[in-house]
Amino acid sequence: MNKLKICVAGATGWAGSALSQGIADAPGLDLVAGISRSHAGKTLEEVIGIEGLAVPIFGTVEEALETNPDVFVEYTKPNVAKHHVLSALKGGAHVVVGTSGLTNEDYEEIAGVAKEVNRGVLAVGNFALTVVLLQKFAEIAAKYIPHWELIDFAGAGKKDVPSGTGRELANRLAKVRESQLDVPLDEIEGPKETRGARLQGTQVHSVRLPGYTISLDAIFGMPGQKLILRHESGNSAEPYVDGALLAIREVGKLVGLHRGLDSVMEF
Ligand SMILES: NC(=O)c1ccc[n+]([C@@H]2O[C@H](COP(=O)([O-])OP(=O)(O)OC[C@H]3O[C@@H](n4cnc5c(N)ncnc54)[C@H](OP(=O)(O)O)[C@@H]3O)[C@@H](O)[C@H]2O)c1
Repeated sequence: MNKLKICVAGATGWAGSALSQGIADAPGLDLVAGISRSHAGKTLEEVIGIEGLAVPIFGTVEEALETNPDVFVEYTKPNVAKHHVLSALKGGAHVVVGTSGLTNEDYEEIAGVAKEVNRGVLAVGNFALTVVLLQKFAEIAAKYIPHWELIDFAGAGKKDVPSGTGRELANRLAKVRESQLDVPLDEIEGPKETRGARLQGTQVHSVRLPGYTISLDAIFGMPGQKLILRHESGNSAEPYVDGALLAIREVGKLVGLHRGLDSVMEF
């Protein structure tokens, strides 16, 4: 069987370099291109030290797509991610999106194009298994508990809010129902911002402070009791590799936009 040809946009980054190493080690996958502006013209072997891997790095998506990847992985920045994803779809690739910060409007446009070109897009705010489980547990909790809020924590330098994990969870909970607010937002006394942002029917608060990596609390409250589901990430990009490899192998079976790794997992 032919190997699946993969292009990783952001292959030299923190998450993308760990994934590139994972692809290089995985049977049946062939890493054919990376994208990074500052390392264009070099190879991944030179830049991230993947031994024996003379994979070319391109500065633009247009050049990288000339390698005709079957699957394009987007792992760069939100300001360029939509352009990369739409270009890859129009170039005939299926797409896995790991980048956080794309809006629901971006995803609506991506969903339309994916359907048009008969390709799959699998967007996963967090590839870690523990996050997939948090999402599942939160969906169950939202069926029984009408009040909840999310708090996403990250380091002071993270620009996009909320985190991809928080955004994706709000999107999923919206499919269960909206969280109940006993005091409507327009009846609040004091600065309304302190109640966070209402995102698809969920109050979301983003904390950005030095000393934090990435974590997410989903808090469900009932009179006299509460349930707190917390996911905490460490400093390694390792937990994201296995989930991303699964997404890469499965996205070719999909058509249109699918969000969350559980779209391709059995529970
Ligand atoms: N879904 C998940 O499980 C998961 C896990 C970890 C991270 N993430 C998300 O993945 C994204 C990347 O995170 P990171 O920590 O790996 O970032 P990073 O270390 O800053 O790496 C970013 C990569 O993207 C490239 N890049 C940036 N802007 C570009 C542009 N305009 N055109 C082409 N390439 C560009 C960078 O290379 P150049 O600067 O040389 O262009 C670099 O290779 C973030 O949105 C992060 O939140 C998601």
